[in-house]
Amino acid sequence: MTWEEAAAELREALLSSDFVRAVANTGTQRVTVRPIEVKSGPALQIVTEDGVRPTTKTVPVTKAAIEPLLDERYRNWHVETARQTVKVQISKKGRVLLSKGGPPAAPVTAAKGHDREKQHLLDPGDPLFDVIGGDARKRRQVDAFLRALDAALPAEVPDRLRVVDLGCGNAYLTFAAYRHLTERGLDVHLTGVDVREDQRERNTRLAAELGFEKVDFVAGTILDAKVEGAVDVVLALHACDTATDEALARAIEWDARWILAAPCCHKDISRQLRKGTETALTRSGILRERFADVLTDSLRSAILRDQGYAVDVVEFVDSAHTPRNLLLKATKLQATKAVHGNPQGPSGDYQSLVSDWGVRPHLAELLHRIP
Ligand SMILES: C[S@@+](CC[C@H](N)C(=O)[O-])C[C@H]1O[C@@H](n2cnc3c(N)ncnc32)[C@H](O)[C@@H]1O
Repeated sequence: MTWEEAAAELREALLSSDFVRAVANTGTQRVTVRPIEVKSGPALQIVTEDGVRPTTKTVPVTKAAIEPLLDERYRNWHVETARQTVKVQISKKGRVLLSKGGPPAAPVTAAKGHDREKQHLLDPGDPLFDVIGGDARKRRQVDAFLRALDAALPAEVPDRLRVVDLGCGNAYLTFAAYRHLTERGLDVHLTGVDVREDQRERNTRLAAELGFEKVDFVAGTILDAKVEGAVDVVLALHACDTATDEALARAIEWDARWILAAPCCHKDISRQLRKGTETALTRSGILRERFADVLTDSLRSAILRDQGYAVDVVEFVDSAHTPRNLLLKATKLQATKAVHGNPQGPSGDYQSLVSDWGVRPHLAELLHRIP
């Protein structure tokens, strides 16, 4: 086989909609490719390690963007999609060997008592996805998010549940959550909110096509969208930057009993750190960004606790499916309407974080508008 023939197979797998991950190496250099979601849509994250320091870049899912990677002629390639595994090896004598196998082994599911957990709450091959779309990564994220939602809701959840999905985009999670919760026997009214009118139109059409009568969509900002009724559950999957803060503020304002928010990029605090005094944690751009991620979500958790929520921070899905895999799970401790703002003022946890780092979280600003 020629290298060009093998490269064509690698290219097809790397650009396929169900691409999961790829690893290539040669001598001391190793490169890992993962599908990620950025603001403009699906992208590939390429991490190159040469034993000194890793470099990370994000490229679009296009032939032109991956060509330089294939031109490197790494000696070993291992590419996984949801359907198959493609391996290419170049021997010392320059022979090109290609092998293809089935999909990567499914993760082992933990045994629970005598039962094994169902592998999926919503199988990535479920016909619902034929209607609503979504690539392999999004389907897995949605399934994992449903698991977290399922675990967060107690057995004695009210029969009628008002759920809102903030920053719903194409509403993959909205439709999936509605399907799952109604299958659980609940009377669910679910509203998806997104600033884009075209999303509202598309999603409303799909809801009608699916016969999901109690799913509706509102075009508007998370902060100001008109949502009817008392909200029990707030969902937010990858609402960009401070849109996650808007979702948390709205959930607090509504006194939602359950909040599940998987944040996306964290630009606000990173910007504030960049303007502040340089420290060993903030001097390098990459470290500052990573630290800003941790600081932002620590501040959000502290604020939620001050608002009477029990907060758990978990990784809801494997990082192979999205690097944005953190989930803030918050449960209101008292079901009664609480006074907004902790009567004792912000906790020491919160105060020391803001004063040590000289930052003002967007969520704290937003809470001022709550009556
Ligand atoms: C990265 S997408 C995620 C969409 C969806 N939750 C998902 O995971 O597939 C973020 C969505 O949030 C919407 N959005 C961002 N800021 C918003 C805001 N302030 N109010 C309403 N929607 C917003 C965008 O239009 C976009 O559709």
